[in-house]
Amino acid sequence: MQKYSFFVNNSIYNNSFTRCNALKMQVFQRITELTGFQQELRSKGHSLGFVATMGALHEGHLTLLRRSLEENDASIVSIFVNPTQFNNSEDLEKYPRRTDEDLALLREAGATAVFMPSVEEIYGSDVKSEEIDLIGLDIGMEGEFRPGHFQGVATVVKRLFEFIKPQKAYFGNKDYQQVLIVQHVARIFNLPVEVIGVSTARYESGLAMSSRNYRLSEQGMKDAAIIYREMKWAGEHYQKFSPSELKNEVAEHFKQSSLELEYIEFADSQSMKIVENWLEHQSVRVLMAAYCEGVRLIDNTSLY
Ligand code: PAF
Repeated sequence: MQKYSFFVNNSIYNNSFTRCNALKMQVFQRITELTGFQQELRSKGHSLGFVATMGALHEGHLTLLRRSLEENDASIVSIFVNPTQFNNSEDLEKYPRRTDEDLALLREAGATAVFMPSVEEIYGSDVKSEEIDLIGLDIGMEGEFRPGHFQGVATVVKRLFEFIKPQKAYFGNKDYQQVLIVQHVARIFNLPVEVIGVSTARYESGLAMSSRNYRLSEQGMKDAAIIYREMKWAGEHYQKFSPSELKNEVAEHFKQSSLELEYIEFADSQSMKIVENWLEHQSVRVLMAAYCEGVRLIDNTSLY
């Protein structure tokens, strides 16, 4: 069993899970360890909320956890950097890992439990995605620029739901396409979990909170606020332009910044179909990806 520096008073009981007595937050690394926890909750008639993360936690994750704590008797957070959703090995390697800080934050915020499985625990020796029909929700935007990404997300979230068995699960709308895909996965596999999309936590500048911000300099954090400013600008001006003209306008604005725009797209809020004509869609989101200091950042908001 791996040890983490903040564990001051570990005791292992039932041979099944580790409880940090002083802090009362349980940390599980094995799927089998979840059984006792689930039985205990069930016997008390307690509900379980779940927040899936890849660690490097920030205020956005804590917002999800707080919402879960408000709406459920117990809340579990997973920390698992899922290899199958990275289409770029360098991105996976560079993904920030801050286990001790994460556990301290979760304990402080009042998480009931943390699930930190190894890659082998989730995938065995076959580290690859399942083929799940994502009904086109994965076409375009992140699906286009990160081939295979959403199959990896769908696979891991399905497995986490099956192992953890939460009644409610909370995902940040910063990954809006992901939220729709996770809702779809829960639906098609009849998983008895309500998937809730939660508003993006932002800094005052409008920059979305993200684990990737840990890799930005102070100047980078300032420069990256253009992403939110441009989404707002698009929202204020879209009626004067066609979708493709509006994309060009925003792309021109980015050329005057230090960021490199990867894509700006307008997509139907429900189907994620690319919008070619405003009149054909009742509700549209603007979605973007851009590189700042070599760090890939994504964001989205409602256009109308
Ligand atoms: O949004 C994330 O951090 C990941 O995609 C998730 C949902 C934890 C799955 O690995």
